Amino acid sequence: MKQLDVLIFLGPPGSGKGTQAEILTEKLKYLHISVGDLLRENISKNTELGKLASSYVNAGELVPDDLIIKLVNSYIYDLQNKDSKYLGIILDGFPRTIKQASSLENKIKDLGASIKAVIYLDISDEKIISRLQSRGRNDDKPELIRNRLDVYRKQTEPLLDFYSEKKLLESINGDQNLKNVNGNILNVLKEKVI
Ligand code: AP5
Ligand code: MG
Repeated sequence: MKQLDVLIFLGPPGSGKGTQAEILTEKLKYLHISVGDLLRENISKNTELGKLASSYVNAGELVPDDLIIKLVNSYIYDLQNKDSKYLGIILDGFPRTIKQASSLENKIKDLGASIKAVIYLDISDEKIISRLQSRGRNDDKPELIRNRLDVYRKQTEPLLDFYSEKKLLESINGDQNLKNVNGNILNVLKEKVI
């Protein structure tokens, strides 16, 4: 069985997780797992998961942990078992709670995989609001952006300490142009995965 390297992208809504994960997965031959994209795809296809998740996503609330853990595990499992071309995975938007992080620890242990780094994109609320308002996704309405930020502070921010204690957290200034943010990430990943 393949040994997978895992990178986690952590940061508030609109911090650039998806954008940077996309650039990096191509470069590193990793699979990009964006939980938000998977949920939106399930919602638009009206799958069982989509039906269960839509009210949470549309309110800017977190989808219950059990559903998310099952979804992510199914992707990790597939990757290990097929003759996959990927050397690792980037988890974008997972974990978002301590419960999700603990479940990931167990999964990683089971698989003999390892988390190489947790990239934290740090950016101010003002910058986030202006970025997201000009993008205009369904959940980018002003009141929903505010709720997503509140949810992030309460439920996801505790992961900064969780990963910092494990010496995995790498803070990057997300308030720079795409190229500079990418350059900073590559610098941090030198010697870890590159
Ligand atoms: P998700 O889709 O993950 O949304 P999010 O975390 O709110 O983050 P975004 O995707 O909005 O932002 P991003 O950080 O990816 O930034 P992006 O690169 O797009 O989750 C959606 C929902 O799904 C959640 O609210 C929840 O309901 C549910 N969910 C997801 N994961 C879950 C989990 N683990 N548990 C439970 N529920 C979960 O960039 C944003 C914009 O800025 C873009 O327009 C981009 O072009 C622009 N931009 C990016 N970088 C720069 C830059 N350097 N300079 C200028 N502009 C930039
Ligand atoms: Mg995203």
